[in-house]
Order: sequence, then structure tokens, then C-alpha cells
Amino acid sequence: MTHATTAATARTGGAGWTAVAEAYRDTFAPLCAGTIPAVLRAAALRGEDARRARVLDAGAGTGRLTAALLSTGAAVSAVDPDEAMLALAAETAPDAQLGRAALPHLPYAAASFDVTVANFVVNHVADPRAGLRELARVTRRGGRVVVTIWPSGHNTQSRLWAEVLEASGARDVPATRLPAALDFPRTVDGLSGLLKGAGLRQVASGTLRWTHRTTPDALWRGADAGIGGIGTTLRAQTAAVRARMKLEHDRCVRSLTHAGELVLPTTAILAVGTRS
Ligand SMILES: C[S@@+](CC[C@H](N)C(=O)[O-])C[C@H]1O[C@@H](n2cnc3c(N)ncnc32)[C@H](O)[C@@H]1O
Repeated sequence: MTHATTAATARTGGAGWTAVAEAYRDTFAPLCAGTIPAVLRAAALRGEDARRARVLDAGAGTGRLTAALLSTGAAVSAVDPDEAMLALAAETAPDAQLGRAALPHLPYAAASFDVTVANFVVNHVADPRAGLRELARVTRRGGRVVVTIWPSGHNTQSRLWAEVLEASGARDVPATRLPAALDFPRTVDGLSGLLKGAGLRQVASGTLRWTHRTTPDALWRGADAGIGGIGTTLRAQTAAVRARMKLEHDRCVRSLTHAGELVLPTTAILAVGTRS
């Protein structure tokens, strides 16, 4: 594994994910992998073109998308600010060029890649507009930038956790949202606007829908490990409230669980744009 020397400067880079990398791989990474077929389609990596393509996976996490990109025959680089994530990505995608870096500072010359992807990363960076500009910078003219995010509040999971919080009397935690001047609407139009603002053209975006199949235990373990907004909220509660949240979680997942399998209709937003 090679580690680029560029400092991981974004607020969300680094330590935040280290403690949860393995739990992420076992719980939320399979959920995030639901977009992989759509990301590959949007990247338009096919045939001979794919075999000549240079691709960057920014915020690669445990490397599931990186491995799928490699399977197209492309030469794939992948960066993440988190060492523990990179160690897992090295196991999942051993043929990728891995490096440590955080948006909005990538250790690559302008126009280094034919395709740049960021799967559920733009929603974790401290300055999403600067992050998109950097993804566009390292993409060659005519190359594609593909990004995904979660839509705010529209998933079965969000509704489930909202009910758990309400029923268990959990207290609010300090807002984890970005300052208004840096934030963007977590909608199809909001994500399109981010790509257009970075100078990308032929921007197309839309909602992806799929059914995520997991277990109630995996859903709870991910949150209990501190992953995502619900993880942060859960970790901020007293032991008594956390115990009530577990009971309410077990109650709420019951109607969605069939023969031990938790079935979660899931939506995400994908946008693709071309570097001009
Ligand atoms: C929800 S995970 C998504 C991981 C992977 N793309 C996937 O689909 O499974 C978010 C990832 O973004 C990384 N990350 C956080 N801040 C970042 C930044 N400023 N630049 C690049 N990656 C960042 C985290 O370390 C983490 O691996």
C-alpha cells in the first residue's frame, strides 16, 4: 500500500472512522454497496475503454466499490483519510493504488483520471463545494465525475430510527450539520447544483431505489458502534436510554423482518457530470 503524504485536512477526515472501520465493513458497507451497479453504469466503463481507463475512488472506505471498479479492467486509485479504512481496502482491493488523502486536497495533478467517483463521501466532507471542485480538477476534460449521497430523512432506516428515538425518550445531540453557508440540500436538485457549481456539464441526477437485506443485529451493531448520525446520537445517551433504544429498535424492526432477514427499502441520490 502506498500512502500519499498529503495531509488529511478535512474536518471529517481521520480519527472519526478509525474506531468503526471494521464495524462499518460488517454493517453499513453492504448498505453503501447497493449503489455499485448504478455507479458503474454512470461511469460508463465498458470494454476496451474500461481497460484503458484511469479511475479514482475518493473516500473508498473498505474498498467494495474499488474492487468493483477494478473488475472492469480499469487502473484504479483509491484514497481515504482513514488508515483503518485503507487497511481494509487493501484486503478487499489489493490491486488498487491506495493513498491517504482527504477532500478537498487530493495528491494528484490536474486531469489525472478519466473517471472520478465518490460513493457516500460528499455527505461527510467539511466543504462539499470545495470537495466537488477538487474531484473535477483531477478529472480530465470529457471525463466523468460520479457521486452519491443519502437523501435527508426519506429512507425506511431514517424513519425507523426517528421512531426509536421518539419512543425511547433519547435527548438531542448537538447538531452535526454543516454551517448553512457550506451545506447543500440533500436532494436530487441539491446534488446537481453541487456538480454544476464545480463547472461540470451534462449533469444528470436521480434517485436510486433498491432493497437492502440485512439482519436486525447488523443494523443495531452499526449504530451501537457509533457509525453515522444515529451512531453519534446513540453514543451520546445514558446507559438507561441506550437500553430503551435497543428495546424500541427490536420492536420497530419486527414488522420489517421476515425469517430473520431485515428488509429495508432504500433510496440514494446519484449524480454524474462531465468535465468541461
Ligand atoms: C460512508 S463511508 C463510504 C465509504 C465507501 N465509499 C463506500 O461506499 O463504502 C465514508 C468514507 O468517507 C471517508 N471520508 C471522510 N471524510 C473524507 C474526506 N474529506 N475526503 C475523502 N474521504 C473522506 C471516510 O473515511 C469513509 O471511509
